[in-house]
Amino acid sequence: MAASASTRGLGVAVIGAGMAGKAHMAAYRTAATLYEPVLPPIRLVSVGDVSPAFGEAAATRYGFERNDTDWRAIADDPSINVVSVVIANRFHREVVEGLLAAGKHVLCEKPLSDTLDDARAMATAAHEASTIARVGFTYRRSPGIAYIRDLVRSGTLGRVLHFSGRYWCDYAADPRTPLSWRFQGPAGSGALADVGSHLSYLAEFVCGDIRSVSGGRFATVIDERPEPLGMVSGRGATAVSDTLGRVENDDYATFSAAFDEGVGAFEVSRVATGHANTLTFEVFGDAGSASFDFRRPAEVGLYLAEGPAAQRGFRQVILGPDHPYLAGGLAMDAQGVGFGQNEGFVFQARAFLEEVAGLPEEASLPRCATFDEGVHNMELLAAVASSAEAGGATVTVGDVAATKNEEVPA
Ligand SMILES: NC(=O)c1ccc[n+]([C@@H]2O[C@H](COP(=O)([O-])OP(=O)(O)OC[C@H]3O[C@@H](n4cnc5c(N)ncnc54)[C@H](O)[C@@H]3O)[C@@H](O)[C@H]2O)c1
Repeated sequence: MAASASTRGLGVAVIGAGMAGKAHMAAYRTAATLYEPVLPPIRLVSVGDVSPAFGEAAATRYGFERNDTDWRAIADDPSINVVSVVIANRFHREVVEGLLAAGKHVLCEKPLSDTLDDARAMATAAHEASTIARVGFTYRRSPGIAYIRDLVRSGTLGRVLHFSGRYWCDYAADPRTPLSWRFQGPAGSGALADVGSHLSYLAEFVCGDIRSVSGGRFATVIDERPEPLGMVSGRGATAVSDTLGRVENDDYATFSAAFDEGVGAFEVSRVATGHANTLTFEVFGDAGSASFDFRRPAEVGLYLAEGPAAQRGFRQVILGPDHPYLAGGLAMDAQGVGFGQNEGFVFQARAFLEEVAGLPEEASLPRCATFDEGVHNMELLAAVASSAEAGGATVTVGDVAATKNEEVPA
């Protein structure tokens, strides 16, 4: 049965009860409480996780009616209309294609998949589906990042000259961090796919399309890690055995990029000790600059090349209801109350539910990214892998053959 908003409302399921899955669950709980009450009733039906313990605990905690250990039970349930897929990247394709074939609206986490082949197949399935398929590039929902995009688009910063971005994490800095799906896959499926997908997506979101990349370089600085003794959830610690397994992909990646207008430098890491979640970037235009640092997500740095030279300098802009998402988007929507990554998931869930419910685009939050955008992001990451393989050569985005990503040795 094709999923649609009905008088019974929208039935929701989240597949994957790990770190990001819980953020989706919390977001679906809250989404209808924001802005105007225009959404149909939201029913929290099922949490899908292969681990019954994880699934049951999350369903209880976030108020879902039940948990399922096989995604097919969710696909087969006609009372479920909307499904978030929040599991390891290499499992996205099977589950997403099955859900689309069953008539569900699907919000899939980033990156779209772990290989370009699978991502392109998923985009084909999305084109053929009668339902909506979107990708969860959550950072576009960060009010500060959306505001900097507005500054660029309105011409406030003038002509964009260059972009500089870093996404530094340290979830893998400890050599005792257990092997999990995050450490398996071809070159580029490590830090680059995990956090570089976010950074590269938001760079294009703010500054426009990237045409080519060069200077690609990967490093795996911790070659072996201990096998976990139990299930690993998120990036956290768990008990480990004495058996070591090989780390297949990148701990660190860097590259530079040529945008349609301007150039940029990118550096991502999962071993940047002391930086739990340091996503920072600056955009430099010929009339001003803007900076963002996720350690202070409720503010933006802004420099405008105007006024007396003696008074110029970066100003600290505290975000509030005059900036994107915030008026009505927080229970207390006053300037300076603070907010962060979890709110991004709520705005994302709200945007997806508004689209599924059939609200017109002009009366909705900006739509979520399409699967075609998800493929483009993976083409960009594949171009970085190809550049790294070729010693830093310049590679045009989209020029990498679909299987190239899998052929690159780890
Ligand atoms: N948007 C963001 O900010 C953000 C943040 C973290 C992760 N992510 C993305 O979310 C996805 C999941 O990441 P995570 O950190 O939550 O992973 P995780 O390892 O914490 O959780 C994954 C969960 O999926 C379950 N699982 C595995 N295979 C399954 C299957 N076939 N069916 C049902 N359940 C299955 C596991 O038991 C586990 O509980 C990835 O695609 C990741 O890139 C996005």
